[in-house]
Amino acid sequence: MADSRQEGRLDVYLDPENARSYDRRWAAPRGVRRDLRKQRALGRALKLVCAALGRSPQCILDAPSGTGRMGGVWEREAAPGSLVFGLDGSHPMLREAQAKGWSMPLVAGDLAHMPLGNGTVDVLVCIRFLHLVKSREARVAFLTEAARVTRGGLIVDYRHGQTPRGLGRRLRRVLARLGGKAGPRIWPGRAQALDEVRQGGFEVLGVVPVRLPWWIGDKMLIVGLPVGDSRTPQGT
Ligand SMILES: C[S@@+](CC[C@H](N)C(=O)[O-])C[C@H]1O[C@@H](n2cnc3c(N)ncnc32)[C@H](O)[C@@H]1O
Repeated sequence: MADSRQEGRLDVYLDPENARSYDRRWAAPRGVRRDLRKQRALGRALKLVCAALGRSPQCILDAPSGTGRMGGVWEREAAPGSLVFGLDGSHPMLREAQAKGWSMPLVAGDLAHMPLGNGTVDVLVCIRFLHLVKSREARVAFLTEAARVTRGGLIVDYRHGQTPRGLGRRLRRVLARLGGKAGPRIWPGRAQALDEVRQGGFEVLGVVPVRLPWWIGDKMLIVGLPVGDSRTPQGT
């Protein structure tokens, strides 16, 4: 991957003002409903992983954890005594999480090269990240790194482009290109998203739509289990 910071638009989140205002998008009633839908979907995805593992995960990594938006989910859903920790590349975002009272450990690090050993965590949860990443190659590289650090499962949030909104983005991109501009990012189709997760080193266990019907709601959580040989040593 050329530059993992650029791929995930890290520069945007390094700005303290953006970090401070990040949570505002979920403050209004519509945002509260969107947030709740995502939290419920995450709870369902976690149950799929628990069923596959045959037990509750003992170690969950929320990466990128951002401002700790999913903290409430972990308080409700994580088994007593389990370790939940967050990782993010932006100190301002991590500081916001701390200021909000996120009591679990937080680690500063790059999702492309996490400062963690192979198979460190039971479940890696990646919410609201891959839709920022433009290229398939970079998304697969981030997923490959996720497969290295998890020994149990993956829950990854994808947006697929097969909704009226996705088609609108395509149209805006064509128009922007005609004007010499880049235009919005194009999200992969559902089949392509699943294929990327498999390419990253996971077997797909299931898909949890955040909102139904799927051709209106473009967000889905893909649940994967790492396949045996996906843990190549860090840095290779
Ligand atoms: C849209 S926010 C999502 C945060 C959180 N998961 C949520 O649902 O609110 C994207 C996050 O990705 C982080 N990020 C971007 N590129 C990164 C990278 N290469 N390594 C680690 N974190 C990165 C940003 O700092 C930011 O907190």
